Amino acid sequence: MTAPAERHTFVVVSNRLPVDRVIEPDGSARWQHSPGGLVTALEPVMQRMDGAWVGWAGQPDLDIEPFESDGISIVPVPLSREDVRLYYEGFSNDTLWPLYHDVIAHPQYHREWWDAYVRVNRRFADAAAATSEQGATVWVQDYQLQLVPKMLRETRPDLTIGFFNHIPFPPYGIYSQLPWRTQIIEGLLGADVIGFQRLADANNFSRAVRRLKGFPTRGSTIDVPLVDESPGVRAHGPIAGGKPFRTVIARQFPISIDALGFEELARRPDIQARAKEIREELGNPKKVILGVDRLDYTKGIGHRLKAFGELIADGRVEVEDVTLVQVASPSRERVEAYRQLRDEIELMVGRINGDYGHIGHAPISYHHTSYPREEMIALYLAADVMLVTALRDGMNLVAKEYAATRIDDDGVLVLSEFAGASDELKRALLINPHDIDGLKQTILRAIQMPRAERRTRMRSMRKRVFDHDVSKWSSDFLEVLMANGRKGGS
Ligand code: G6P
Repeated sequence: MTAPAERHTFVVVSNRLPVDRVIEPDGSARWQHSPGGLVTALEPVMQRMDGAWVGWAGQPDLDIEPFESDGISIVPVPLSREDVRLYYEGFSNDTLWPLYHDVIAHPQYHREWWDAYVRVNRRFADAAAATSEQGATVWVQDYQLQLVPKMLRETRPDLTIGFFNHIPFPPYGIYSQLPWRTQIIEGLLGADVIGFQRLADANNFSRAVRRLKGFPTRGSTIDVPLVDESPGVRAHGPIAGGKPFRTVIARQFPISIDALGFEELARRPDIQARAKEIREELGNPKKVILGVDRLDYTKGIGHRLKAFGELIADGRVEVEDVTLVQVASPSRERVEAYRQLRDEIELMVGRINGDYGHIGHAPISYHHTSYPREEMIALYLAADVMLVTALRDGMNLVAKEYAATRIDDDGVLVLSEFAGASDELKRALLINPHDIDGLKQTILRAIQMPRAERRTRMRSMRKRVFDHDVSKWSSDFLEVLMANGRKGGS
């Protein structure tokens, strides 16, 4: 068990830590700061507020003492091989993930996985409690840790607790399948503020609260009766003007990216040169189409390949003129649904390339890997059209990254209406990925779009991404959290 040496006034809790443990060729290990948007957004707050980050180091059976990395205190939570199998691969990624993404894959319900989820959430809650100063603010992240807010409130009623759900929250008709639906709702309601990506997610959550708990909800506020909570729980508002309930806020805070960071890299001459080189390496096609995704069944990669393959088969796209670059980064490879997906996608790519490619030219340039950020930005700059065809996606940051990178106000974004980003990037070409004919039409429209229209659309999307970057996301959330948490007046 971890034994944090210090206590902090601001604590972030997430399944994964913002650092990766890298094993050097000589067998030694070092920590590498992972460049994710969440870390970039929270770094200034972390430094200002003496922050700590509680999470798993990404490998089983590692018991590491807390340490410091780039000014952030890192508090590792150990997971055994069994915990990884049952809590991470099982309940998080084979129960909750498919259930919360419209049951695109079948969620598996196993009581043993649930027991592990409870056990591991307890471990995270204990580590967070042991790391938190009296009256600290704790911000819990994502679906892997939905029980942590309640567990924390029970042991540490002095804390202000926020939760942010990075993935969708499903409609009640789907959510209600979950055998432990009430426990999860109760777990989340331990927070003072529960953030979602879209208004629709927040509404789905409030409806589940009404249906399962019968608590009154008004707009984004939910009144949680104090009698429903364990004794000793802090009442809000000395007992907020005698009120017999605690107010929880559930509303949308759409997450974003470090837009300036992307723009700065996009201006770098070596990255621009690399973008040109990529086009040359592809044989200088007239148009380059790009897809970038974790290899996940929610991303609609198969739908995209089908549409592209049919466009070639119909003779509406010439393979010499148009190349589709698909980057599929390896993900959750020990979960069966992900293994199957990889086989399906690679079969489709092989068929399309085998049927329509010729020596020296394949219609699809497929890469099962993850690239460093610099290479991703070169790809974004090289791409005339970016395809985001998710069947369901909390936000989809790739769409925002593409816009932030296009300092030339060029490039066309084709964006699924089932991705959270479509609420904001309204000047993208919005599509329903299930409608293959519509998708084909839209891909053609994107390829043929005149420069003036590309410019106006991209400018408007860039403005949105720069005006609502990830630091605005975190400051908006924390502002609401401080306001609602403090009402308790502890
Ligand atoms: C999504 C989730 C994150 C998760 C990430 C990568 O974006 O919202 O919580 O960390 O996928 O998945 P992984 O299972 O590798 O952490």
